Amino acid sequence: MLRQFRSDVQTVFENDPAARSRFEVIFTYSGVHAIWAHRLAHALYKRRWYTLARMISQFSRFMTGIEIHPGARIGQRLFIDHGMGVVIGETCEIGDDVVIYQGVTLGGTGKEKGKRHPTIGNNVVIGSGAKVLGSFRVGDNSNIGSNAVVLREVPDNCTVVGNPGRVVRRNGERVGDRLDHTQLPDPVIEMLRAMQKEIDDLKKEVHKAKQEGNEIHDRINL
Ligand SMILES: CC(C)(COP(=O)(O)OP(=O)(O)OC[C@H]1O[C@@H](n2cnc3c(N)ncnc32)[C@H](O)[C@@H]1OP(=O)(O)O)[C@@H](O)C(=O)NCCC(=O)NCCS
Repeated sequence: MLRQFRSDVQTVFENDPAARSRFEVIFTYSGVHAIWAHRLAHALYKRRWYTLARMISQFSRFMTGIEIHPGARIGQRLFIDHGMGVVIGETCEIGDDVVIYQGVTLGGTGKEKGKRHPTIGNNVVIGSGAKVLGSFRVGDNSNIGSNAVVLREVPDNCTVVGNPGRVVRRNGERVGDRLDHTQLPDPVIEMLRAMQKEIDDLKKEVHKAKQEGNEIHDRINL
């Protein structure tokens, strides 16, 4: 248990350059507090003390802003950075050396029973605000970008970004004709451009008609 405790503190130093001392980590890192509370809640959950387990998990949520269902299975060296708004569902499984940032949801997509939350592999990074929804696996060494909404299985060694989440990198190689998020088409601007073109064409036609009218007028006067 002491070894586990030490490992939790060490994990913070390995992932957060802002961590200064063990004292600071033990007393101020809400991600660490949430994991400790979860260990206790999970032990009670396994002994079928569901309500007490839930009470500990809810108290931990109140203190840390991180909601981990007591049924969730968490591996070694999980690091929850900042943590506020993190939700981890009941049937979620998390491997070793995973990093989760604030606002991440590992949830289900509806009211189905049984395994309904994702399984996260080893060494996965899940960026702030990302939602991973459903009962599928996120492969080892994969990265989920901030604010991605992942609804499908992610193979090993991939980077997934966007909504819906799509693989943009696999084994270090760029994948497919990915959507360029900085160059998204804007339908309103497209429509305004089309209208401006039409106005310009009409102006030209009116101008031409005026010129022809003037020429006819001049000829009649001669
Ligand atoms: C996804 C992430 C982990 C980087 O993974 P990576 O495998 O190194 O991927 P890259 O940086 O090579 O990016 C791959 C592509 O996805 C794009 N991308 C990266 N993150 C993205 C995101 N969150 N949303 C949309 N596109 C993103 C990149 O622009 C790049 O596009 P390109 O191939 O056209 O250049 C990282 O961008 C990220 O989102 N980290 C989370 C950080 C975080 O939450 N910090 C909170 C601190 S408080």
